[in-house]
Amino acid sequence: MFPQKNHYLHSAIGHPTLREWQSINHQITPKNLMYPIFVIDEENEEQPIDAMPGVSRFGINRLRAHLEPLVAKGLSSVLLFGVISQLPKDDQAFHADSNENPVIKVIPKLKEWFPELLIACDVCLCPYMSHGHCGVLHTDGTINNSLSIKRIAEVAVAYAKAGAHVVAPSDMMDGRVGAIKELLIKNDLVHKVAVLSYAAKFSSTFYGPFRDAAKSKPAFGDRKCYQLPPGGEGLALRSTTRDIQEGADMLMVKPALAFLDIVKQTKQTHPEYPLFAYQVSGEYAMIYHAAQKGAFELKVALQEILLSMRRAGADVIISYFTPMILDWLTLKSKI
Ligand code: PBG
Repeated sequence: MFPQKNHYLHSAIGHPTLREWQSINHQITPKNLMYPIFVIDEENEEQPIDAMPGVSRFGINRLRAHLEPLVAKGLSSVLLFGVISQLPKDDQAFHADSNENPVIKVIPKLKEWFPELLIACDVCLCPYMSHGHCGVLHTDGTINNSLSIKRIAEVAVAYAKAGAHVVAPSDMMDGRVGAIKELLIKNDLVHKVAVLSYAAKFSSTFYGPFRDAAKSKPAFGDRKCYQLPPGGEGLALRSTTRDIQEGADMLMVKPALAFLDIVKQTKQTHPEYPLFAYQVSGEYAMIYHAAQKGAFELKVALQEILLSMRRAGADVIISYFTPMILDWLTLKSKI
């Protein structure tokens, strides 16, 4: 019998170029990557992070040497997280935006060393709070939402004044994007700084290693009341729509791998917004340790995962593996 149309589907994808044409829109270039960096107040130190082998926290005086080869390989954007252990923490996150804050100190330096590099700053209170929560608390330990977003907006504006190109609020308080936009407008900064909203940020066990890295583990309770429940795709949609209404310029889904349906849903619902997928600390550790134990080859597994994120609709992937991926891209090996 004569074969039906499409019967020989697989014979059409034998040649490597034919295979690549199947995913031509999902390729990874340096522009599809954002590199998260922990900046510490111990200015001359590089501190390896036990929970994330291969990742370190950097003092301001160690960062240039770390980034120079990466920028030479095409690194185009970074996401800065401040971590303090010399400066004191308190219940108002005073050092989130003080002149001694490591992020505020490092931004002008980064701009001087790497004028082309895009600088995004995570905006949150947890690394600077004695209790480790992302917002200001009432005396009974519950979140004071209005004081929290006021403080978050002040911090975002401080990073913007220091020269950040993007502020990325990760605290998940209600109304934070609107509060940030309003204060940016008041300070005449709204045309200089974009807001990347952690629009769909789920409460996740995959953040475990990060809390070690950022020294921001809550002293009591958890973050479930301000982060989305993992089953809540409807809430993710509402939260994303609300952030857009409040003026978000770009959107994020986090974590990435276990939430690729949300990445796809977000891209399909809001195709006009650049979409970021954050491959978080637990995803990094999972892939690293599985490869270490011989479960798979790291490069092959990571390439498949990155491709899946792009296929789901992520424009930019925030990944701790960025230095390694830039190496592969530079060596022109296929991704
Ligand atoms: C803090 C923040 C967290 C992450 C980014 N910003 C931790 C959390 O919300 O508990 C997680 C990033 C990662 O795991 O790599 N608000």
